[in-house]
Amino acid sequence: MVVLKIFKSPLCIVSVILFVFLIVINDYLLSENYSSSLRKMLRIGALERNVDDLFPIKFYHIAFVDYRTNTPRLRIFSISGCLGNSKYLNVDIHQKGMRTPARMKIYGRPMEGHCPSAYWPATPCFFSAHTFEANLSVTGGLTKVVIKLGLRKVELSVQEIHNPVQKGITMCLIPMYYYSQWQNIVLYIEAWRAQGATRFIVFYHSSTKDTRKVLDYYQDLGIIEMRPWPSFGSLPNDIAEKYPNIDNSAYIFAYFLALNLCIPEIKTTIGAVIDFDEIAVPRNGTTLDYATKEMTGTNVGALIFENNYVSMNPSIYTSEFSGVSSPTFYSKSGPQKVRHSMFERLISYLFFQYIFNASVIELCQVHHVESFIDKSKISKKSDGALLHLRYNVKSFQANTILKPFRFFPNNASHHIQNMHETVKSIFGKTPPPVSLKSLNTFNICEKRSENQGMCHGATCKSDMDAVHEWVYDRTEGVFLSGEY
Ligand SMILES: *[C@@H]1O[C@H](CO)[C@@H](O)[C@H](O)[C@H]1NC(C)=O
Ligand SMILES: *[C@@H]1O[C@H](CO)[C@@H](O)[C@H](O)[C@H]1NC(C)=O
Ligand SMILES: *[C@@H]1O[C@H](CO)[C@@H](O)[C@H](O)[C@H]1NC(C)=O
Ligand SMILES: *[C@@H]1O[C@H](CO)[C@@H](O)[C@H](O)[C@H]1NC(C)=O
Repeated sequence: MVVLKIFKSPLCIVSVILFVFLIVINDYLLSENYSSSLRKMLRIGALERNVDDLFPIKFYHIAFVDYRTNTPRLRIFSISGCLGNSKYLNVDIHQKGMRTPARMKIYGRPMEGHCPSAYWPATPCFFSAHTFEANLSVTGGLTKVVIKLGLRKVELSVQEIHNPVQKGITMCLIPMYYYSQWQNIVLYIEAWRAQGATRFIVFYHSSTKDTRKVLDYYQDLGIIEMRPWPSFGSLPNDIAEKYPNIDNSAYIFAYFLALNLCIPEIKTTIGAVIDFDEIAVPRNGTTLDYATKEMTGTNVGALIFENNYVSMNPSIYTSEFSGVSSPTFYSKSGPQKVRHSMFERLISYLFFQYIFNASVIELCQVHHVESFIDKSKISKKSDGALLHLRYNVKSFQANTILKPFRFFPNNASHHIQNMHETVKSIFGKTPPPVSLKSLNTFNICEKRSENQGMCHGATCKSDMDAVHEWVYDRTEGVFLSGEY
């Protein structure tokens, strides 16, 4: 029992205690709770430095000026290595009618609160999403923002954020990658529109050709707005070799970044971060009316919907939608003999989804609100339900139960007919089958990266390319690392 002996040695025990102590201290220092004066002290103590051209960082090409607060705030988003407490950006603010720009020093923070992420599957990842914020004293409109990174500079265009006024719900979707279950999209759009959603923002990385056809159909109707989510590309030549490849070492396509880039785009009173296989429904009426009633004139800034796995008979993957009028619900407590892959556990970790008042949201996480602009706002648990489709829910072997929730607030047969007509106008009489093989390939690949303790990033690309021909987004100029 060599192992036991090692653990008995007093030196080892002392080191373990010391190690745990260091982790706790480190966690405490990193947590958002410690006072900003302590943070300032640390910055002064820890040799302040600007983010320079040797630092591994890429910026989203748009900087936002947020007018939802009394003092407008500049928001810049990046994917980068951990910044620590002492790194800042040198930023030149160009204003209308001003010849010389105003120089600002802007500190950043990881969107997930910690860097590397404290969320275990993301911890091995080198690159994390960061946000840089500064209060602006300037009043005029900004024309552009130029970040000075040592010898390089990055030029960002500027977009304004105003308090949303249109009544409705904007749906923000996490980046779509290697997506094949196109029927989910048809049900999602039909059900969410019936529940009051008016806009759908989809960050697109990759999908099957059939899925892309469905997205293009809704985009042409003006229902879906697509945002390119291409490969992050490489770092500049002089530093690229020193760091991991960004695509492979950013947690599943940096979805935190995409979610928070969607918030500035919301022009409706309510927003939601809910994926293509999930519909949040109230007990009665529409989600929009229910959420408006719960939030208006109260301190509720977000409503949380609890996960419910559902299946349909027949399955919607046969392209027959009649089963959606009475979904089957599964009990959470039933036996779950199948060992879930990390990705599936991640999905079930997202047991809650939420919708929020778009005027007060600051930062989003996938499953909860990270922060509100208005600190008096809170998240409240709703008495509605999240209907969550899982293609393999039957393999969970849970008991089925009865629940009063439905996808549609009114005449379901009308919506079922709509979905059949939609599928017919996209694909004609014989809709294509879904390739469940590619889903399995993804799960196997991802289990492998889990076993190897690797970041769950784009490392599955070659596996996925081997089983299917994917339509990738190849837009250039979305993530910038600057020029000399
Ligand atoms: C901006 O101003 C607000 C209100 O005065 C303050 O709470 C916040 O910390 C400031 N933000 C930054 C990044 O300085
Ligand atoms: C459902 O909503 C309708 C319309 O708002 C209302 O008339 C009805 O009483 C509600 N039913 C229940 C059970 O709450
Ligand atoms: C959102 O919050 C703002 C500020 O508190 C409030 O005026 C507005 O009524 C809220 N909107 C909804 C739909 O809850
Ligand atoms: C429900 O929808 C079907 C199909 O569109 C239609 O024939 C029927 O009249 C509708 N029923 C009601 C009560 O609106």
